[in-house]
Amino acid sequence: GKSGYDHFMLKEIHEQPRSLRQCLRGRVSELDGTVDLDVDVDPDGVQFVACGTSYHAALCGVSLFHEAGIPAQAFLASEYATSPPPVDGDLVIGVTQSGETADTLSALREAKRRGAETLAVTNVVGSSVSRECDQTLYIRAGPEIGVAATKTFSSQVLALALLVLSGTGASRQDVAALRDLPGNVQQVLDESNAEDIARAYDGSDAYFFIGRGLQYPVSLEGALKFKEISYEHAEGFAAGELKHGPLALVTENTPVFAAVTGDDLLARKTIGNVKEVEARDAPVVVVTDGQNDAARYADHVLEVPVSDDRTAAILANVQLQLVAYHAAALLDRSIDKPRNLAKSVTVE
Ligand code: M6R
Repeated sequence: GKSGYDHFMLKEIHEQPRSLRQCLRGRVSELDGTVDLDVDVDPDGVQFVACGTSYHAALCGVSLFHEAGIPAQAFLASEYATSPPPVDGDLVIGVTQSGETADTLSALREAKRRGAETLAVTNVVGSSVSRECDQTLYIRAGPEIGVAATKTFSSQVLALALLVLSGTGASRQDVAALRDLPGNVQQVLDESNAEDIARAYDGSDAYFFIGRGLQYPVSLEGALKFKEISYEHAEGFAAGELKHGPLALVTENTPVFAAVTGDDLLARKTIGNVKEVEARDAPVVVVTDGQNDAARYADHVLEVPVSDDRTAAILANVQLQLVAYHAAALLDRSIDKPRNLAKSVTVE
């Protein structure tokens, strides 16, 4: 059942501290920083294939592998077969919650035909993807009933971060960030003002989401969640791309959500983009850990605890999940079963 929540989606959003703990359990040694996942990979390069929310997790995976110095690319599974890239020596990773998505399965089959080693990152034990790939990494999020993927996104990103660390080893700081993640998510859940913000912007013309680095896929995911359950127009953009076109859409009736954590060059550049939006009189909501001064340019702030850049992306995403949920609840939408959508898409 829904354990007292109005919707499975809200229940699953609230399950994230537990599902993340489950993903970590027994995999990270606090003593020497080794990460053991029962998969044996040492790739020269990585290609991800995935759809929808899982594709956004794969884009996070690209950044995570790049940080470790390993070349990586993410492909929409439905496009992969149309123009298949050479695989030479690359590990092809299919990211799929259900393990049954037709587009993802056929992209992986194409990769196999080309001689690639394949790895499944999935939630479902015994799923088609786990049977067809050479190896499987389980995200252990537990069953997800809501059509909107929530807890499985955060567990996918965490599993990909662990996959990188299984090759490089985890520093003391990495281990601390991983250990603190479930508690930090709990803090976001306990203290979020997402409902007030959803109410403040109910009835807007459109909703935009921006971010860079790991917060770029988070902005895509924030928009996907928002549109699929509220049926309102929502789009995510790389913060730096706004000025190359989308800025023309920005008005005083299009709130812009900017995920800006940390205090590095990345954050400062995104704050520059926030100022561009503010100058067009758009309402600005920043998701921030307070390490930068983004809040100065914002009408509303969604706070996340201070953490490292990898876990900050997961935390910011939880806030955007809650915004989408509350916006859709205000509109009385069919949140767990949005119109025209299925939990697992088994046709190409
Ligand atoms: O089961 P998969 O992860 O392969 O599903 C892929 C997409 O259909 C899925 O992530 C979809 O975008 C989400 N349910 C949207 O919330």
